[in-house]
Amino acid sequence: MSRRAASVLFLAFGLVFQLSCGTEVKVLKEDKLCLYANLMLNFSVFYEVAEKKIETAVFKLPDEVTTEGSECQATTSMLKIHFGKGHSWSVNFTASGKDYQADLVTFSYNLSDSTFFPNSVSNETASVTVKPEITNVGVDTCYSCNSKDLIQIDSLNMTLWNVLIQAFITNGSKSENVTSCAADVPATTVSPTTVPTTTNTTTAAPVTNTTTAAPVTNTTTPAPQPTPTPTPALPTPTTGKYSIKPDENSTACLLVNFGLRIGFKQGEKYQEMNLESNETRVTGWCGVNSSELLLASDSMTFRFSFTNDMKKFRLHALNVTVNTSSGVAFSQVNASLALWEATVGSSYMCNKELNQTITDQLSLFTFDLQVQPFAVKKGLFSTAEECQADVESFLVPIAVGVALLVLILIVLLAYFIGRKRNMATSYESLS
Ligand SMILES: *[C@@H]1O[C@H](CO)[C@@H](O)[C@H](O)[C@H]1NC(C)=O
Ligand SMILES: *[C@@H]1O[C@H](CO)[C@@H](O)[C@H](O)[C@H]1NC(C)=O
Ligand SMILES: *[C@@H]1O[C@H](CO)[C@@H](O)[C@H](O)[C@H]1NC(C)=O
Ligand SMILES: *[C@@H]1O[C@H](CO)[C@@H](O)[C@H](O)[C@H]1NC(C)=O
Ligand SMILES: *[C@@H]1O[C@H](CO)[C@@H](O)[C@H](O)[C@H]1NC(C)=O
Ligand SMILES: *[C@@H]1O[C@H](CO)[C@@H](O)[C@H](O)[C@H]1NC(C)=O
Ligand SMILES: *[C@@H]1O[C@H](CO)[C@@H](O)[C@H](O)[C@H]1NC(C)=O
Ligand SMILES: *[C@@H]1O[C@H](CO)[C@@H](O)[C@H](O)[C@H]1NC(C)=O
Ligand SMILES: *[C@@H]1O[C@H](CO)[C@@H](O)[C@H](O)[C@H]1NC(C)=O
Ligand SMILES: *[C@@H]1O[C@H](CO)[C@@H](O)[C@H](O)[C@H]1NC(C)=O
Ligand SMILES: *[C@@H]1O[C@H](CO)[C@@H](O)[C@H](O)[C@H]1NC(C)=O
Repeated sequence: MSRRAASVLFLAFGLVFQLSCGTEVKVLKEDKLCLYANLMLNFSVFYEVAEKKIETAVFKLPDEVTTEGSECQATTSMLKIHFGKGHSWSVNFTASGKDYQADLVTFSYNLSDSTFFPNSVSNETASVTVKPEITNVGVDTCYSCNSKDLIQIDSLNMTLWNVLIQAFITNGSKSENVTSCAADVPATTVSPTTVPTTTNTTTAAPVTNTTTAAPVTNTTTPAPQPTPTPTPALPTPTTGKYSIKPDENSTACLLVNFGLRIGFKQGEKYQEMNLESNETRVTGWCGVNSSELLLASDSMTFRFSFTNDMKKFRLHALNVTVNTSSGVAFSQVNASLALWEATVGSSYMCNKELNQTITDQLSLFTFDLQVQPFAVKKGLFSTAEECQADVESFLVPIAVGVALLVLILIVLLAYFIGRKRNMATSYESLS
């Protein structure tokens, strides 16, 4: 009797334990299981609150989620998890031959959700995309990783652990066989399925094993460091002059001159591309508090969003999409920037090459930059506020000149004092 009670209690605990163990999602196709996931996921996100202060939002993937938009095809599938007020986390998988892999993880978060982002300045939905290290998973096996996997991107961290995922389920039920991640496999044995996994140290997901005492033993795969292939230096991009008019009979309300280059990482490959200003289509609009400039060429599109708080304006958000030669569109967004800041009514200028990190995988380079997104008068730039680099390059020659002048004065002074003394002494000796 009491034994029975104990076992019931045990079962109940087991059930509770199961439920709180992770977020479980099942994707069905024609009423049959085709994609399964059970995982634990924590987010830590930097976001902007008033006065350019940065707060950190920390939250976990809740148990209550939905999976609209998830889908299973023969060689591609997508797991899309929606939670809270308009947040989503998705992974897409591709299968080829005996293996499948996760290609991209996309996390979109709704900054107007005050439960996660109280007092957020932005009300937009930001989104980041990273390439996870889930590769060479055997078909008909689950990918399993109990170790913590920290995915670090500029303004946010995602921690994944106790992960069990199977994509491309064929017979309607989850496989009992697993492909374990490198971090779970003891250092001495070689993972059976891992064909030399190209450990991707650059993009994201440095697998952290928190329990290892000696960090030295953590390097399980002795894969050689990928040497970045030297790319031939690009010529300086041509300076494009872009403007937006509120209507055809008005003068410009937004002006931007710059040469533009991006540097981006896809997997281990770093590439740089210039925007050809003569092949760029320009659209946009001007508002009181925000303005937007869209530049599109055949190979890339940029969406620059400017905001102002009545005193200062800044580049607040940037969305860059690159149509790479492989046909995979690569998109990076950062909606909590504060770049190119200057007083409303003036313009921001930086003639020097400016290198700005937009996300972990994207840098923006500008040349001969001058921008005025608000309060443009007569279609012309107003007085410029120059960037630090320009001010320095302007001040250095002045400083050198001033120093030289002072030196000359000192020498002259010394000469005249010396001469006066000499004359005085020679008079003395004469008399
Ligand atoms: C995940 O976040 C929760 C709170 O949101 C915290 O209690 C827990 O310690 C976090 N776990 C990890 C592994 O970061
Ligand atoms: C974002 O959050 C706000 C506030 O909770 C909500 O009104 C809005 O619908 C959400 N956006 C999306 C896309 O769900
Ligand atoms: C976001 O805020 C701006 C002004 O701050 C407002 O015009 C816009 O409608 C808001 N968008 C949403 C989705 O709430
Ligand atoms: C960390 O690594 C050690 C040895 O490499 C292993 O024994 C241990 O189980 C790992 N911890 C986790 C949480 O995976
Ligand atoms: C992400 O993790 C790193 C290292 O633990 C930490 O320095 C950084 O502040 C974290 N970022 C966020 C957004 O929590
Ligand atoms: C697990 O793998 C073994 C060997 O590859 C195979 O014989 C077995 O059928 C697999 N089990 C399942 C449930 O797929
Ligand atoms: C622009 O000016 C022309 C001639 O003055 C006029 O015909 C046209 O309607 C105007 N367009 C707009 C949008 O005001
Ligand atoms: C744009 O300029 C480049 C070189 O400056 C030239 O090769 C290209 O043909 C031009 N394209 C167009 C559409 O004019
Ligand atoms: C711009 O911001 C000011 C102050 O925050 C506000 O009073 C005004 O309504 C805003 N205008 C628009 C068009 O959003
Ligand atoms: C970024 O731009 C691309 C292409 O224009 C678009 O598909 C995507 O939704 C945009 N992302 C955000 C967060 O606005
Ligand atoms: C741009 O800046 C980043 C971060 O400071 C740096 O790692 C990178 O090497 C710079 N790129 C160039 C081409 O200067």
